[in-house]
Amino acid sequence: MQDTHSVAGIVEKKALQKKALAMIESMPSLSTVIGEFLELASREYFTAKDFEKVLIKDQALVARLLKVANSSFFGSSKSINAVHEAVVLIGLDNMKNIVYSVSSSGLLTKRLKNYQYADQGFWLHSMAVAVTCRILVEGNPNSPINSEEAFVAGLLHDIGKLILDNFLDAESGPRDVSISEEKEALGVSHCKLAEVILKKWRIPQSIQSAVRHHHEPDVQSAEQHGAVLVNLADRLCNGWNIGVNSLMDLGAEIDKAEFDAELQALDFKSDQFNETLYLLRKKLATLDKFYEEA
Ligand SMILES: [Fe+2]
Ligand SMILES: [Fe+2]
Repeated sequence: MQDTHSVAGIVEKKALQKKALAMIESMPSLSTVIGEFLELASREYFTAKDFEKVLIKDQALVARLLKVANSSFFGSSKSINAVHEAVVLIGLDNMKNIVYSVSSSGLLTKRLKNYQYADQGFWLHSMAVAVTCRILVEGNPNSPINSEEAFVAGLLHDIGKLILDNFLDAESGPRDVSISEEKEALGVSHCKLAEVILKKWRIPQSIQSAVRHHHEPDVQSAEQHGAVLVNLADRLCNGWNIGVNSLMDLGAEIDKAEFDAELQALDFKSDQFNETLYLLRKKLATLDKFYEEA
């Protein structure tokens, strides 16, 4: 491996980064529906009708959406044949989560050679962080971030790993890849690559920033609240072993003191956090069921 700081090392990294950018260019785009949803979500009123109007532009997405809405995960006894029925039966928020998850599942179900995820674990980890971000926002009346953006930031936070995986030394096998190993291989981290990908997809700036800084958010900076949130969700999900090779362990204790700086930055009250942890465990316990159905 070349020394990162030598001239030869820098030239080598530049050539590899060019290759990485070409890979990003050829990545399939997310459904344009996602961008329109995020735009709608920032409005004060958002109705089921608005939702349907955006959605019918992507019929393939509608078909998959109805399949998931009819799955046992949502437990409706009535068969759902149209989007407006689904909205009534399982709720607008659930439907939006399905849209985001289904639109990105093609990318996120890729098997990574270097990162330590179980079969489909990358998707499970991404979904778990997305759900956790949303629940953390909903459990905190003082949250500075909207729950829609929080969910998408969580879902896409590690998407840069899809590209970086091609530049790491696969002979070492699946492992806990550190940011410094990533930088040694390509000169940039998965966080930076994710920012480039999201920019290309025209995902809002607030989400780009949350993803860009999710490994080392500045808790003092109000602009980095999104990144603080993703960092907190990521660490919680990793603490519960979601998506990694070892068994998921939602019973694992959470040492609140470890998260104090983040909780303070997000203005989370202690009793709210305990209640939110309870909700999170309940929701995440059913996540693999969602995966089977999707
Ligand atoms: Fe990450
Ligand atoms: Fe992560």
